Amino acid sequence: MPHEAFSGFYKKSHAQRLALIKAFGELSDEETGLLEKFGSLEFATANRMIENVVGTFGLPLGIATNFTVNGKEILVPMALEEPSVVAGASLAAKLCQSSGGFRAEATVPEMIGQIQLLGIKDPKKAVEDIRATEKELLSKASSMDSMLVKFGGGARRIEAHTHPTNRGEMLIVHLVVDVRDAMGANAVNTMCERLTPELEKITGGQARLRIISNLAIYRLARAHAVWKKEELAESVREMKVSGEDVVDRILDAFEFANNDVFRATTHNKGIMNGIDAVAIATGQDFRALEAGAHAYAYYKNKDYKPLTRYAKNKNGDLEGSIELPVAVGLVGGAVKTHPLAQINLKLLKVKTAQDLSMAIACVGLAQNVAALRALATEGIQKGHMRLHAKNIAVLGGATGDAIEIVAAQMVAEKNVSATRAKEITDALHRTRN
Ligand code: MEV
Repeated sequence: MPHEAFSGFYKKSHAQRLALIKAFGELSDEETGLLEKFGSLEFATANRMIENVVGTFGLPLGIATNFTVNGKEILVPMALEEPSVVAGASLAAKLCQSSGGFRAEATVPEMIGQIQLLGIKDPKKAVEDIRATEKELLSKASSMDSMLVKFGGGARRIEAHTHPTNRGEMLIVHLVVDVRDAMGANAVNTMCERLTPELEKITGGQARLRIISNLAIYRLARAHAVWKKEELAESVREMKVSGEDVVDRILDAFEFANNDVFRATTHNKGIMNGIDAVAIATGQDFRALEAGAHAYAYYKNKDYKPLTRYAKNKNGDLEGSIELPVAVGLVGGAVKTHPLAQINLKLLKVKTAQDLSMAIACVGLAQNVAALRALATEGIQKGHMRLHAKNIAVLGGATGDAIEIVAAQMVAEKNVSATRAKEITDALHRTRN
């Protein structure tokens, strides 16, 4: 099928788009039927969110329980495909309940917009000139978003620095904007673009890129919690290890990540398992969060490090904390258009973007404790296996209550495979018929 057949795809109706991809992908009626099914996100809404929509892509939405943040109980909606993440977050949240749950805080929601200026004869003087006109530039930037100013936000300060590069010296201006309850990309990008003429006039240079930075160092969320050693030991009672031992094992796991970039990457990936899942469930730009989190993991220590930290407190219990940029919004974008995002925000009981960022930081910390606890004791596969075994049981032909029975037997036998699933399913059938 030639590419031309798809020209003007965006103008075609849903049925026409489906007919085209059906022919291209040699899809069956059943397969295209799946694309015709819309859930909470209808075609019309989805079609306004992105281009060339043919369907929606469902993900399981689970609820992590047991979270208390700054004394308030919340439910945590998580949209993701990976087993054990929701259960892990819920367990870690439960295990710190007796110590009061999570304490969290968030900085002011300031984002950085970057403006790249080239061809400046005297960059040092240009920086001074920008500093001298900072007040006017800020008021001009703020005047572009009266709504933001009405809600207490606006442009706050300007920073400038130079980079010697292979293509000459570049002047980079940072416009720092308090974006309140917005994620901020739109507001900041607009301000940066509109400040171009002034900045070019002041510096005599030429503006090129004008775009938000996802390394949101001024928009941080922090969370902290204590896990009592006895409760940690109880959570792995089959292993018959002491609370002291579990805490030490977790500290060893943390030190591994703190001294090894290969491990730190995976450590932080586990944190993002929880963070992305909440971000997706609440209609956030999870790519922005990912980029910001990993860059911050480097930026803070000028070396890639874990986003969480752990220590033993004077009782010998485990104290954990997290700090990372969390650029999330409650206005604009998918958070407003996706009907489920609104429901999920209600479960999280958030009133401001800062509230949401704190909840997200708590989930990141909980997710990490869950992963370290499992990795440092019984291993990660045990929890994974339970759910994985159910999927394999279905592959082996199990249905209804047989799924649970077949899965449990495979886990007990430590032999989780489609072949074994089929054998057990068939045997079960024979005894039942
Ligand atoms: C898997 O998605 C996440 C973990 O690898 C995280 C970790 O290793 O800390 C289990």
